[in-house]
Amino acid sequence: MERLTSPPRLMIVSDLDHTMVDHHDHENLSLLRFNSLWEHAYRHDSFLVFSTGRSPTLYKELRKEKPLLTPDITIMSVGTEITYGNSMVPDHGWVETLNNKWDLGIVKDEASKFSELKLQADTEQRPHKVSFYVDKSKAQEVTKELSQRFEKRGLDVKIIYSGGMDLDILPQGAGKGQALAYLLKKLKTEGKLPVNTLACGDSGNDAELFSIPDVYGVMVSNAQEELLKWHAENAKDNPKVIHAKERCAGGIIEAIGHFKLGPNLSPRDVADFLECKTENVNPGHEVVKFFLFYERWRRGEVENCEAYTASLKASCHPSGVFVHPSGAEKSLRDTIDELRKYYGDKQGKKFRVWADQVLATDTTHGTWIVKLDKWEQSGDGRRCCTTTVKFTSKEGEGLVWEHVQQTWSKESEVKDDSSWII
Ligand code: GLC
Ligand code: MG
Repeated sequence: MERLTSPPRLMIVSDLDHTMVDHHDHENLSLLRFNSLWEHAYRHDSFLVFSTGRSPTLYKELRKEKPLLTPDITIMSVGTEITYGNSMVPDHGWVETLNNKWDLGIVKDEASKFSELKLQADTEQRPHKVSFYVDKSKAQEVTKELSQRFEKRGLDVKIIYSGGMDLDILPQGAGKGQALAYLLKKLKTEGKLPVNTLACGDSGNDAELFSIPDVYGVMVSNAQEELLKWHAENAKDNPKVIHAKERCAGGIIEAIGHFKLGPNLSPRDVADFLECKTENVNPGHEVVKFFLFYERWRRGEVENCEAYTASLKASCHPSGVFVHPSGAEKSLRDTIDELRKYYGDKQGKKFRVWADQVLATDTTHGTWIVKLDKWEQSGDGRRCCTTTVKFTSKEGEGLVWEHVQQTWSKESEVKDDSSWII
């Protein structure tokens, strides 16, 4: 969070399963659309928060399966675990507040008396979260009885039903909404209260997110019955919460537009990449746009036309150098020439490219350093290179690529040079 010295322009707090991630979209297109929008227009001055029911173990699994960006803050286990940054530093202060009127032993003991409750996997049992499966038809009745029993034993707990199957028992002070309220308070004391906050969700455990004051909310089009019911009973007249027309990440983009929270045109929705421009000099945008072109070029989805590569070459400094992850050095212009040979080589191969954590720093006047993780997904796995690009910009002219350097990231599953061009 130290990355920003002033309040973030936008903070997106999004659930993952069936909200950021569409498990029915095997191409991950809406997520990839969100990713390029975020990296080109928001990463530099905004916060991305993932708030999931998953434990750290299952969250990490999802990260390997889907092209998820790296969030600034990760809230896991239904708001009972908060971590910061890439290295996921835990918020110990938050954990302490959760011990109030909570006793894991008693919770497990009482719940074990209900034959309708089927314990979830061990990974999903956390210090402040006990999770079961329960049939939709039994959920209400079980919840009511459980609450009475806990009360009798002096506990103050919260029972949440999600996705028409999951039942979570948490301390009363926990949950996604409480975790968000805690985070907003913390950011406020640090002088970083976001200008706008948008909460995004699809199921029961997300309902709380939509009752935090001053927070915009979007229930994605595919929201679960239990969330829509909660909304109809509790937040129907709140103009700050919408039920999107679009599924999952598409609904998040829709909400950014609906509430006018900032740019809502994903570079992925612009067919002609040469026409895709931003108002100010934005080197992060340049990189996102280039790698999108690179994906489309290798998928054979743009026209195989000389004008594209010529324009790319023209934006490279004549003596600009590219350091390939293998260590080999080439001229940038030769690299573009080489790219010409690879037109369409990934056709039909599920090839996708995305940029994560695109951050530009303005070093001296007119010189920019952009750092990012560049990911490539292909049939045989995922590759990732930490990439540094140096740009210069001259008055009236665009940005000039001066130097590109790549090294394999430790997150890369495959470290194979053969088809890695840039
Ligand atoms: C995630 C968790 C599960 C929880 C559910 C609903 O699927 O893995 O433990 O019950 O979210 O919150
Ligand atoms: Mg969900």
